[in-house]
Amino acid sequence: MASNSSPEKITIRQPDDWHVHLRDGFVLDTVVPMTARVFRRAIVMPNLSPPITSVDNAISYRQRILASLPSGLSFTPLMTVYLQDNLSREVLLRGFSEGVFTAAKLYPVNATTNSAQGVSDIRKIDSLLETMENIGMPLLIHGEVIDSSVDIFDREAVFIDRHLQPLLNRYPNLRVVLEHITTEHAVQFVESNLSTIAATITPHHLHINRNAMFDGGFRSDFYCLPVAKRERHRLALRRAATSGKPCFFLGTDSAPHLRAFKESSCGCAGIFNSPYALESYAEVFDQEGALDRLEAFASEFGPEFYGLPLNSRFLTLVRTPQIVPSKFKLDKGLDSCDYLVPFHAGESLRWSLDLNLASNLSI
Ligand code: NCD
Ligand code: ZN
Repeated sequence: MASNSSPEKITIRQPDDWHVHLRDGFVLDTVVPMTARVFRRAIVMPNLSPPITSVDNAISYRQRILASLPSGLSFTPLMTVYLQDNLSREVLLRGFSEGVFTAAKLYPVNATTNSAQGVSDIRKIDSLLETMENIGMPLLIHGEVIDSSVDIFDREAVFIDRHLQPLLNRYPNLRVVLEHITTEHAVQFVESNLSTIAATITPHHLHINRNAMFDGGFRSDFYCLPVAKRERHRLALRRAATSGKPCFFLGTDSAPHLRAFKESSCGCAGIFNSPYALESYAEVFDQEGALDRLEAFASEFGPEFYGLPLNSRFLTLVRTPQIVPSKFKLDKGLDSCDYLVPFHAGESLRWSLDLNLASNLSI
């Protein structure tokens, strides 16, 4: 801990979010401040429509994100490129060497939201992976098979055995983040491999199991990909996140969707958790008796994996309960359906960010 051993209050180094969807257009004005309120940096996912596949698109997207930042907040969006079968090596080389791309994201085609233009077969991007291994550019993976004959609850485990293990064998020095892990199998796989692989863990996968989606009716607010699994897996994720092992770090996968797209006969996958993500993680670490490990998970292991400096500021969480709003109106929304429902909507969370200190982060 940076300071303060009192369980009523903890001060930690300012965290980063190593996996977030900020979207584009008018949504940015609502969601960017929510992430930037707490996180100093964030790995920004490239699954826009159309996706970010060029250096110039990433630069202009980064500018739009920064234009949505309220004055007084320091926030660095770390951009990623969306891998495609025919993406050129030159895009990776230029984007990485110019410091525009921090990493590249692999979406198996049609695995999740806006992945239709993703990778159809990992072997088709072998030359890109070889380049990334050579230049030290991390590969971020949405780890689910897209084989419809595989049960949706097994798709992560099958991906690991069928694709990830062979990939690590082919590229032993490639730095890989298996994003938003959801299974005991993923936990064991990541911790038993060498330091080239790490995993992000979301707050929602630490709080809910698959029952949440079917509690008294179908609840699309708890539908995301990879889908939440059985309780046994949730418990394995909680042990991993609070283990103090550097291969597990914070990545919210906050994925906002306008209400009309969640409340639909074909509702979108994605849970919007950025407004209270840190408080949500704090609740888990508190319940597990591991508050002293929150700082490393949230603020140290991510930068260490990416080879980036630790943040220099600190923020304080206090044990003051707060009720999470049931919805957030979008600042420039067009109609009454333009709102977002956050994770934990209407629930009470035990921890709050100390707003006095948050608005005046201490060095
Ligand atoms: C994400 C989205 O909406 O962009 N959805 C989700 O369920 N997590 C995409 C992703 O990360 O899979
Ligand atoms: Zn995501």
